[in-house]
Amino acid sequence: PKAEEILNISQENAKKIRIDRLLQLDEKERIRIFHELKKKKNIDHFEVDYQRNDDKNLILELTAFIILDENKDVLGAVTLVNDLTEKKKMDDYLSRVEKFAALGRIVSGIAHEVRNPLASIYTTVQNLENELSENNAARDDLQNIMQEIDRVEKLIRQILNLAKPLPLQIETVDINELLRTTIPLIEKEAKKRGITLKTALSGDIEYTKADPNRLRQVILNLLINAIESTAKRGKITVSTEMVAESDGQTKWMLMKFKDNGIGITPDILDKIFDPFFTTKNVGTGLGLSVSHKIIQDHNGMIEVESQKNKGTTFSVKLPILG
Ligand SMILES: Nc1ncnc2c1ncn2[C@@H]1O[C@H](COP(=O)(O)OP(=O)(O)O)[C@@H](O)[C@H]1O
Ligand SMILES: [Mg+2]
Repeated sequence: PKAEEILNISQENAKKIRIDRLLQLDEKERIRIFHELKKKKNIDHFEVDYQRNDDKNLILELTAFIILDENKDVLGAVTLVNDLTEKKKMDDYLSRVEKFAALGRIVSGIAHEVRNPLASIYTTVQNLENELSENNAARDDLQNIMQEIDRVEKLIRQILNLAKPLPLQIETVDINELLRTTIPLIEKEAKKRGITLKTALSGDIEYTKADPNRLRQVILNLLINAIESTAKRGKITVSTEMVAESDGQTKWMLMKFKDNGIGITPDILDKIFDPFFTTKNVGTGLGLSVSHKIIQDHNGMIEVESQKNKGTTFSVKLPILG
């Protein structure tokens, strides 16, 4: 009966099909199993990929016990089927989390090692600049160097943030106000590229407890991505709204960042939150992973919906905490 459920097949139908067909064994698997059974051995934990008639892909584990008659000849075998699909998924997820943690430790080690010499290079360049006369042409070069060092330093800070974030600095936050003060920071860049930035902020957004600086970082990351993915005459809309769960108790505030840019193809949609995943020539691939981590730390959710060449919407849901 359990097998009927796993395989989505009725007992009636199952009886009509031979076991190797039933389990979609390929030639190699079939031969191996029959070989083992002939040698009067049981089959232990044999894994097969199985595509069910509703197109669901399963990973099944087979265990078979042979039945011998009194002459020790093989009469048949009892096969047990176990559905490993969920367990496998969990194992994959855990190994990803572990890999991520290990990567974090390595990266943060390197980042710390790079940071100190970088700081002393910066100070040296700054001293050099101070020693030069006002109209010395080398000043520009030195300033360029300092700008580049700033860029690297910022990148390192992001990486460290991801690997080992500082504790949240929780305050009462008015999300609409936070958006109103954050959007102007990138408005000029949007204008320069001929992109329209609109807001549709709901009047009844409740205050919540959050770390405003971290949230600002998320808002900027999402807006910068939207700008970078949108061509001239593009449109970006930032909106807020309150949503209540059906229990009427839990309330969330929802921020949406909608653009009509290049969109994201389905095959990379589940990778964009991975650290260092980027499709850009000069991207760091950190914006979304940092944002995801920050929202997770707030017990919120960040989700994406996208259509190639149509546009992308990122939704950030934060719990309302009194
Ligand atoms: N609004 C968007 N429209 C289209 N693609 C996006 C958008 N936001 C993110 N992406 C995709 O997700 C990837 C990862 O984004 P992110 O983590 O911010 O790194 P980066 O911007 O440095 O590439 C981008 O390279 C891009 O392919
Ligand atoms: Mg980005």
